Amino acid sequence: MEYDGEPTLGSLLLKIQENPINRNGEPTSPVAWGGSCLENLCGGCAIQVNGTYKMACNALVKEFKEPILIEPLEKFPVIRDLLIDLTSLQKDIRYFKPWKKLDGYSSLNHFPELDPNLWEEIYPLSLCHQCGICLEACPQVNKRSPFKGAAPLTEAFLIQKKEKLKKRKMDRTLKILGKGGIGYCDFVGNCETACPRHLPLARAMAKISQESTRSYIHHFFYES
Ligand code: SF4
Ligand code: FES
Repeated sequence: MEYDGEPTLGSLLLKIQENPINRNGEPTSPVAWGGSCLENLCGGCAIQVNGTYKMACNALVKEFKEPILIEPLEKFPVIRDLLIDLTSLQKDIRYFKPWKKLDGYSSLNHFPELDPNLWEEIYPLSLCHQCGICLEACPQVNKRSPFKGAAPLTEAFLIQKKEKLKKRKMDRTLKILGKGGIGYCDFVGNCETACPRHLPLARAMAKISQESTRSYIHHFFYES
């Protein structure tokens, strides 16, 4: 395909959608893919490009050896073409209840200030756009293992750092340490290398393990 300038794969996919033809030049259906923002924000356009994991909207065509092979991620069901179903990832994130319980209507208008050090620690983790690439890149996320992967665990960690209710915090700690949780992580770090939002996942996973274990031991000896 001919193109001008330095397009991204996302802009080429959009161009193909304008006049989709097959290799014989006959009209065909357009390629389905999941992007909507074109700014690496919505998390919908994760794909494999020549065997590496990329967001179509910020992968420059010139970075890849031609012919460029574009495929959907492999660990999620394919809806069509490059469009994948991320329901399992969203379900695994919800499993940890990564939200705070309001303690009254007053909470709606009152946001307690965060300690700046805590803010610095957790802000980068809030940039996850739930694209699924960290799970795709992780050898521990596979059909034989219940491991939920980096994105759900870091979402859990993020809310855990702000949780004030002891019971909710301990319930979440037990989930983090339980089936599919941090104990299944091998700390290989593929998640961090592949993450298109550059989240410090390897450090976060180590901290999740450390802090959850410490808080469980503290609870066991001093609070139960
Ligand atoms: S942690 Fe990174 S790779 Fe994983 S889902 Fe979030 S943005 Fe994608
Ligand atoms: S189109 Fe939204 S992240 Fe790529």
